[in-house]
Amino acid sequence: MGFIAKLVRHKSIEHLQAEAGQRGDFRRVLGLWQLTAIGVGAIVGVGIFVLAGQQAAANAGPAVVLSFLIAGLGSACAALAYAEFSGLIPVTGSAYTYSYAVLGELFAWIIGWDLLIEYALIVGVVAIGWSGYVQALIEQLFGAHLPVWAQGAYDPKNPDSGKVFNVIAAGITLLIAWMLTVKTEWGARANTVIVAIKVIGVALVIGVGAFYVNTANWHPFIPAAITSEGLTQYGWGGVLAASSIVFFAVFGYDTLTTAAEESTNPQRDLPRAVLLSLAVSMALYVMVSLVLTGMVPYQQLAGPAPVDAAFKALGLHWVRGIISVAAVAGITSVMFAFMLGAARIWFALARDGLLPKWFARVHPKYGTPARPTIILGVFTALVAGSLPIGEVAELVNIGTLAAFIIICGSVLLLRVRKPDLPRGFRTPALWLVAPAGMLFSLFLIIGWPWFSDGRFHLLGGLPWITIERFIIWMALGLVIYFGFGIRHSRLEREP
Ligand code: ALA
Repeated sequence: MGFIAKLVRHKSIEHLQAEAGQRGDFRRVLGLWQLTAIGVGAIVGVGIFVLAGQQAAANAGPAVVLSFLIAGLGSACAALAYAEFSGLIPVTGSAYTYSYAVLGELFAWIIGWDLLIEYALIVGVVAIGWSGYVQALIEQLFGAHLPVWAQGAYDPKNPDSGKVFNVIAAGITLLIAWMLTVKTEWGARANTVIVAIKVIGVALVIGVGAFYVNTANWHPFIPAAITSEGLTQYGWGGVLAASSIVFFAVFGYDTLTTAAEESTNPQRDLPRAVLLSLAVSMALYVMVSLVLTGMVPYQQLAGPAPVDAAFKALGLHWVRGIISVAAVAGITSVMFAFMLGAARIWFALARDGLLPKWFARVHPKYGTPARPTIILGVFTALVAGSLPIGEVAELVNIGTLAAFIIICGSVLLLRVRKPDLPRGFRTPALWLVAPAGMLFSLFLIIGWPWFSDGRFHLLGGLPWITIERFIIWMALGLVIYFGFGIRHSRLEREP
């Protein structure tokens, strides 16, 4: 096989579809509502409980709700693309599997590698947010604090804080890795209960908070831009910059595909669950952002547990307790979903020969992909313990946005190449939706073209350092592929 032919060799969709039909590894028990609960379980997390408030304080003011809408629009376009794919190729493996079928091996590897690191880092970010709420709860219940060094990661921007390592964040990721190692999955029923608790918590924020909204706090809705030391906060630039960060809140439905082989009617239900879970989450986000910024001046939302801070400021201690419990319980479902997703992607890459086969052996006793899970646990514990939440979230977002660009492009390409394949869901106006999804994702990365002072420039977007880190991480991926995967790929032996 020639060099170029190797890079574009692919798995055929018909083959994947047939395989999915034959596989009986899992029992098919999940219906639309359980699938939607899995989606909401992975979407609603730190993005709303932590980043919404922090970004209101740092960048957008009350207009953080606009940031959510901008990020949500981009994500909705990608969700439509995911929906079409999930109705077409109902097997686990998410975007990695889709691109193996459409774009061939090199792109599949790029996306698999991208998703692997991204999912691992998501667990880190979510663990950091979780730690903030656990500490708020400990403080409220026992009036106690961890020693300062253990409260959070060392922050070079604030070297005198005394913080060294986020012990709770690191601990929870290790615990979750261990739980996923000894038991393949924590059942769908437990997930549904946890998601219900989380949604009740969010509903309480909205329902109670709404009575305490002081509309004066919404003025000015978009605070005037301030520039200091080359950094601009607020104004439209701030709103757009915040949308690149709260973008973290609006994905997670992609992990739904991990349940593809357990769904009773995947071709019909997966696409619907993808769209429904995003719609429910977006509705909650819009209301929570309005309520939070209406309850207290946005400057008060900067801490590690902003929802708790808002209710504390108004003396609503009984609600605070319930919300923190709901946040702590609810956010764990995000960590489970992404740790499981990361382990499965790693496993799939190894099974396909793109990473050493050593990783693709299931544990003899527990029947789980123990090796990847344990390594991921240690890696994410280090990330969660030692890095600040904002920077890791930015890195996650660029990874997800890159994946969204590839997915939107692939779904369009597949429509052109194979218009007649049976599809459980067809994205309406794909010619518009797919390019819009690609453009939104691109602008959320590099910034939005903006005309002011007689010239075009880019407004918002992710910091350049994040883009650099992403390029390094992808370059490392290419080295691994050309050094290993291209020769060991399963398609090399069984074309
Ligand atoms: N969307 C998920 C969250 O906000 C990753 O935690």
